Amino acid sequence: AHALEFQTLQEWRSGGRGLSPVEATMMVAIPEIDGATGPMVYGGRTNGGRSMQSDAERAGRLADRIGRLVSLRKTPIRDRKVAVVLYGFPPNAGAVGTAAHLGVFESLHNTLNAMAAEGYDVDVPDTVDDLRRVILKGNAEVHGQQANVAARVTADEIVARDPYLSEVEAAWGPVPGKHQTDGRDVFVLGAHFGKVFVGVQPAFGYEGDPMRLLFEQGFAPTHAFAAFYRWLRQDYAADAVIHFGTHGALEFMPGKQAGMSGACWPDRLIGDLPNYYLYAANNPSEGMIAKRRSAATLISYLTPPVAHAGLYKGLAELKTSLDRWRQMEAEDATRGDLAQLIQTQAAAVDLADLDPLWDATAHDQVAGLSAKIVELEYTLIPHGLHVIGAPAGSEERRDYLRAIGEGQGVALDDAAIAAACAGKGDLAPELRAILQRADQLLSEDTETPALIAALDGRFIPPAPGGDLIRTPDILPTGRNLHGFDPFRLPSAFAMQDGAKQAGKLLERHLADSGALPETVALVLWGTDNLKTEGGPIAQALSLMGATPRFDSYGRLAGADLVPLDQLNRPRIDVVMTLSGIFRDLLPLQTRMLAEAAFKAAIAEEPDAQNFIAKHARAYAALHDVSLEEAALRVFSNADGAYGSNVNLLIDSGAWADEDELADTFTTRKCFAYGLNGKPVRQEGLLQSTLAGVELAYQNLESVELGVTTVDHYFDTLGGIGRAVKKARGDAIPVYIGDQTAGEGKVRTLSEQVDLEARTRVLNPKWYEAMLEHGHEGVRHIEAHVTNTMGWSATTGQVQPWVYQRISETFVLDEEMRRRLATLNPRASAKVANRLLEAHERNYWAPDDATLEALRQAGDELEDHVEGVSNWAAE
Ligand code: BEZ
Ligand code: MG
Repeated sequence: AHALEFQTLQEWRSGGRGLSPVEATMMVAIPEIDGATGPMVYGGRTNGGRSMQSDAERAGRLADRIGRLVSLRKTPIRDRKVAVVLYGFPPNAGAVGTAAHLGVFESLHNTLNAMAAEGYDVDVPDTVDDLRRVILKGNAEVHGQQANVAARVTADEIVARDPYLSEVEAAWGPVPGKHQTDGRDVFVLGAHFGKVFVGVQPAFGYEGDPMRLLFEQGFAPTHAFAAFYRWLRQDYAADAVIHFGTHGALEFMPGKQAGMSGACWPDRLIGDLPNYYLYAANNPSEGMIAKRRSAATLISYLTPPVAHAGLYKGLAELKTSLDRWRQMEAEDATRGDLAQLIQTQAAAVDLADLDPLWDATAHDQVAGLSAKIVELEYTLIPHGLHVIGAPAGSEERRDYLRAIGEGQGVALDDAAIAAACAGKGDLAPELRAILQRADQLLSEDTETPALIAALDGRFIPPAPGGDLIRTPDILPTGRNLHGFDPFRLPSAFAMQDGAKQAGKLLERHLADSGALPETVALVLWGTDNLKTEGGPIAQALSLMGATPRFDSYGRLAGADLVPLDQLNRPRIDVVMTLSGIFRDLLPLQTRMLAEAAFKAAIAEEPDAQNFIAKHARAYAALHDVSLEEAALRVFSNADGAYGSNVNLLIDSGAWADEDELADTFTTRKCFAYGLNGKPVRQEGLLQSTLAGVELAYQNLESVELGVTTVDHYFDTLGGIGRAVKKARGDAIPVYIGDQTAGEGKVRTLSEQVDLEARTRVLNPKWYEAMLEHGHEGVRHIEAHVTNTMGWSATTGQVQPWVYQRISETFVLDEEMRRRLATLNPRASAKVANRLLEAHERNYWAPDDATLEALRQAGDELEDHVEGVSNWAAE
């Protein structure tokens, strides 16, 4: 609990942002490192007054929250009522009960059993399938809902009991609105299992509504969303809630960034209900939003093991031929034949053309193929989903430990791993200790006990967030994630590596285009920076020729320019688009980046050596504005808003042409953050800067998240790529800085999608591991397909063969099609329809037979969803 230090109570109440950058860092981010939870402003100074006063509403809420924690601890276990919240996003996609990296129903089943063993009054269905069926089926079909209807809240009740009704009605019309309702009542989805209620969080409400997606700012939750949380708090009267996996929408509802008031939606919705949140250990940044905006205590869970992608089918055959080529004598008479075989095999897996024909002299082509095959075989991929309550078996542990070794630059075989785990062998003692500790902790379930302790109202100890490979200290999981100390970011190490990576980007662009870019667009996320001590921030500084400035306590205080004679190249103009999460988590860094751009713009240096000054001077002269305004380069959302919404448009399919995607992006992301850290709408300046951008770029920091795993990469990087294309009139290269292995590597977007398609979605090792988790596995496959189309829509840089092979693997293969349809009818129908949509939008051109087969399969899958098929029932 803290007071306001650098603003008055009135300023805080009326402002959109909440805490100032320094307040957010000192009062919230630093205490989190010690495990503090539920940050609360309880007072401050009033305008003109000199003494501190309490804010009665906040102090009251704080007292209520503490009271609820005390009573949670005191309530006998048998009497406790616990609500579990699952997510159903996107709606109608077979996505209910999915979460990042988590086998949700298996984890839930284990958790309920563990609770029963502790003495909770919970009726656990016999099997995972039974549990899923009770929640997802039940009376769902009767009501046309995604899950069982467990309760109804009548319109009259909402009118009588929702204190914020007028705000919701202003945004969504008269109660009960249009979402999750039969026109009279609002439905609460979920099912009761004794004194545990498992509910499904309603959707945001504006998915699929292009007009609303264009709003710059959020407005209010839907009637269904507000009613759901009010019902949990008051009608069901839960003693605690568990948000089950990464992540839902509650904490992204409109309101201040940090330092919530009683007018902020996440705070209103969660009220004083103790809030526990199972959260992926590798996502500290979005986790922080949940902690700061919805008073959640995080309980981290492990992400799935990563393993080498390996080779399959045609790729494995090709490798055999490449090996033969390597062993063959140079003068062997059959060398020409082998070259042609290799070419044919490569063409069959879309790695070569058949024209012109290769012969015995095809050394370069074969060498190129060999390098590609090695990359495919050794690329790390995540393997399956994590299940809470099921600690890693010995084989999985070996995969984790091998990856940890690789992260430290050491290749480990099984014998070396076994020796290290036994405290023997000849590895460096530090690495051996890391492996031994990891092996021990991975073999235990530390997550369920943490959840049980949380439900007793106990303290959850803090832990850094990150990937196991980079940060083995995330073990044991089951702890409350925190970020890196923001005063110390970017670190000296990050600055060193950032300069290196920025150099690689410029080199690659020079090689591809023959010139240094004058302007680049860089996407910055919170996650990547928290995991790397600020690596991507350091890249931005390095491109501009700037360096962080720290005060005498070692706290970040701003940016300084690196003199040109040390930089040895021009200052590159960098337009930075921040995720809303970055903006919330790293306000000091947001301001520092703005200061770097400003200082570069006012530096008296020649145009040819300083592209920022060159462009800012020209813009200022043309539009008659100050250099300070012309030098604004840091853009993000309006206060309290997140994302560009391009992902929601793509998912819904409710868009006509690609320019709409560009407009949505710029409407959402045109808020410039300058020296005072406050956003100002600057659409004209953003457009003008985008028109000069020559390449767009983002880093990839984690094996678990590829550019086709989640829809955020095309939402941010794809979105800006499309916005640049619209502003310029032509497409620009889009690059990914893959920092997940070794020294890092810059790829084009097309190369990255190719790599992920081959190593993940088309790779039996990847999809079979997903399908072991049934229903949710199919949804993850569908997400890859949709995200792939997101890249076509935003960049046009996906090779058509990707769609062809996905079609063959998942839709045209009858056995596979039926398997997917049985596991998750909605998600499989969505795969077929998405492939057809990609064709209709001209991202690939299947031949007539393929198209016909796809259409038929699509119809058959739709029938299956509607239940008219006679396939075996689920
Ligand atoms: C972020 O960490 O900034 C972020 C995470 C997920 C999606 C988008 C942004
Ligand atoms: Mg997210």
